[in-house]
Amino acid sequence: MKKLFGIIGNPIKHSLSPVLHNYWFKKYNINADYSLIEATNEDLPEIIKRLKDGTYSGLNVTLPFKQKIINFIDKAVNDAELTGSVNTLLLDNKKTIVGENTDVFGLQAAYLKEIDNSPNKKVLIIGAGGVSPSVILSFQKSGIRSISITNRTKEKCIFLKKKFKFLNIISWESLELEINNFDIIINATSLGLKNGEDFNFNFENTKEAVIYIDTIYNPLETKTFKYLKEVGKKVFNGLDMFIYQGQKSFYLWNKINPEIDDGLVDLLNSKLK
Ligand code: ATR
Repeated sequence: MKKLFGIIGNPIKHSLSPVLHNYWFKKYNINADYSLIEATNEDLPEIIKRLKDGTYSGLNVTLPFKQKIINFIDKAVNDAELTGSVNTLLLDNKKTIVGENTDVFGLQAAYLKEIDNSPNKKVLIIGAGGVSPSVILSFQKSGIRSISITNRTKEKCIFLKKKFKFLNIISWESLELEINNFDIIINATSLGLKNGEDFNFNFENTKEAVIYIDTIYNPLETKTFKYLKEVGKKVFNGLDMFIYQGQKSFYLWNKINPEIDDGLVDLLNSKLK
């Protein structure tokens, strides 16, 4: 029988997760289908019931449900427990609905191995929304000791500092002036998203050897990414992080560590043109 998987979110139309997982299902001859599940808060109990009764074999969770979903599952484990953010659901052999987080791994696997993350480096996280707890934990795990955060709405930084006490809060108003203090800058806001708003300054004030990471992959190159690339900085977009978080979800469900081959990368890139 065909196994069913899917991603719960709203809006969800633009998610590339079906492309990713259906590619791997085909590659590994698994009779399964991965679909988009547009949901409202009211739909969550019914969707979870369908995971419990075996209709679904595994689910991803994205905005705006990564935190909220914890109220509907049996337990959040590992990075999901540490961040309070769940992006992967599975049913264990005791019929317990387990929430995991594969975003932290996605970030680590995609970038942190490629950059010099010696403990004295200074990191700035821009944004305190849905993806930020995962970004913070991945830097913490990498051993970096100086982690700063800024957000338009300061209260969200204060809230995150309750969980991650080591965070240093920078005011949004001084962002443009302060960016020259950081070795690694990561954009965890939605600024730069296709057809959305963008930063109202460019990043010309950054350090010579700065590394810029964008969690955005649609477009593949945001305005800031393009600018920094053009002036010769080391830049990463969010596509690798997206692929690696999916790889870990796929492993958790199927116990196969799927290969990230050229065919997959080409396919994803073609969808983002
Ligand atoms: P949410 O936090 O509502 O779940 P998100 O997509 O996870 O949504 O996060 C969006 C992030 O982008 C937040 O950090 C948000 O800042 P606020 O907390 O102040 O809303 C940030 N963001 C979105 N639009 C922005 C804008 N025009 N200027 C600055 N920051 C913006």
